[in-house]
Amino acid sequence: MIENNGSDADGPLEEGALTLTDSRTGADYRLDIEHGAVRAAGLGQVRANSEDPGLAAYDPAFKNTAACISRITYIDGDKGILRYRGYPIEQLAEGASYLDIAWLILNGELPTPAESASWRAEITGLQAVPDPLPRMLDGFNEDGHPMAMFIALLSGLGAQHPDSKNVTDAGCRAFHIKRLIGAAPTLAAMTYRRGKGLAPVAPDEDLSFPANFLRMVFGEDAHIDPTLERAMDVLFILHADHEQNCSTSAMRGVGSSHADPYSSAAAASAALYGPLHGGANEAVLKMLTEIGSKDRVNDFLKEVKSGSRRLMGFGHRVYKSYDPRAKIIKRTAYEVFEVTGRNPKIDIALELERIALQEDYFIRRRLYPNVDFYSGIIYEALGFPVGLFPVLFAVPRMSGWLAQWQEMLEDPEQKIARPKQLYLGYDERPVPAG
Ligand code: SDX
Repeated sequence: MIENNGSDADGPLEEGALTLTDSRTGADYRLDIEHGAVRAAGLGQVRANSEDPGLAAYDPAFKNTAACISRITYIDGDKGILRYRGYPIEQLAEGASYLDIAWLILNGELPTPAESASWRAEITGLQAVPDPLPRMLDGFNEDGHPMAMFIALLSGLGAQHPDSKNVTDAGCRAFHIKRLIGAAPTLAAMTYRRGKGLAPVAPDEDLSFPANFLRMVFGEDAHIDPTLERAMDVLFILHADHEQNCSTSAMRGVGSSHADPYSSAAAASAALYGPLHGGANEAVLKMLTEIGSKDRVNDFLKEVKSGSRRLMGFGHRVYKSYDPRAKIIKRTAYEVFEVTGRNPKIDIALELERIALQEDYFIRRRLYPNVDFYSGIIYEALGFPVGLFPVLFAVPRMSGWLAQWQEMLEDPEQKIARPKQLYLGYDERPVPAG
């Protein structure tokens, strides 16, 4: 990037214009700055001659590309700010329920008491899944990964709802959004029970969303402690949405072809499964188990600083400061430990954080704990197996994926997602004779 030093802007940063001179032709261009961005289509007007297709913006991994306009979630990575529809995550995690947050994320406002009650009744009425689905899991070994099962079940549920392909119909979208939010915990619990060789537990409509989930996982006779029920609800709230992360981009991308929401959610779940994304909570627990004790933390961090491995649960594409969700999860862990007993792995995690935040390697790269660093310690204390952790991320993120999917379909500027490439391969060449 070549720049002629100007002076700091003293007006609004969001509007203005960029003027460019193309050194190939001497032509000058003006690109309007809107919402802090320039339209890549404007670059397409910069042509060296009549055959030139125009400039493209090259941005591998979309590190500096806005793919959409959204009004759902706002993140300030430098200040560690996360807001759903303008409300700070810290305040929402204090008193709201996950289902009310799902309504907020989807509809833009917190529900009235009447809306909240009817919404909860609708969702709990859509939690049961039809018989063929449990039998689908007979195709998996008991030690099959729960996330692989969850992805398959989403696709199987979609096959039960062929009408969901009618994605341009608002009423159809609204029903299947509720269906997916309602069924997600049921499918998740089924993957856990398959792993234990146990039959699924049917949802109980009289219980709260988190209590119902815990009961479907741990059985009809499980005692659901109110502190643990609340901790699950807080974890669901914290994981509900996070703007254009990898899995949400997959939801939007697959949904842009007008695939049904079940197939799009299966694709989003597949993206979330990766250890660099939602699979990190599982990778963190395995890392803490491998480290084994506080006194081995320094040796482990030496390997990380050598570049031979990553400190899972640390770092983020957007947060270059402490992930606000990690702060809340860390606090929630101690509330859970009051009931379950302290998970000793938290001492290893705290030591990793203490040392890493003082080390130049992490400071220079602005690496801090993210949402996945402490969540798995809670999940393990609650009795979930480590393979279920990414599924526990997918259950609440379902509402965020669906809100983003809905926003994409309602955006008149959105079309099928199909980026360009810069082709640097062979020019035309003849197939060898013989
Ligand atoms: C989630 O996007 C979202 O919003 C995601 C999420 C959501 O709610 O949807 O917040 C959920 O996915 C959280 C992130 C979970 N993933 C992990 O904890 C895995 C470990 N973290 C990293 O792999 C990494 O930090 C990412 C994937 C999260 C972000 O990667 P980036 O932005 O592409 O950064 P990078 O890989 O280019 O790293 C920049 C530098 C590199 O060093 P240099 O090449 O400059 O020497 O930082 C280093 C990296 O090696 N680095 C790490 C590190 N993360 C980055 N080094 C050690 N340990 C790490 N964890």
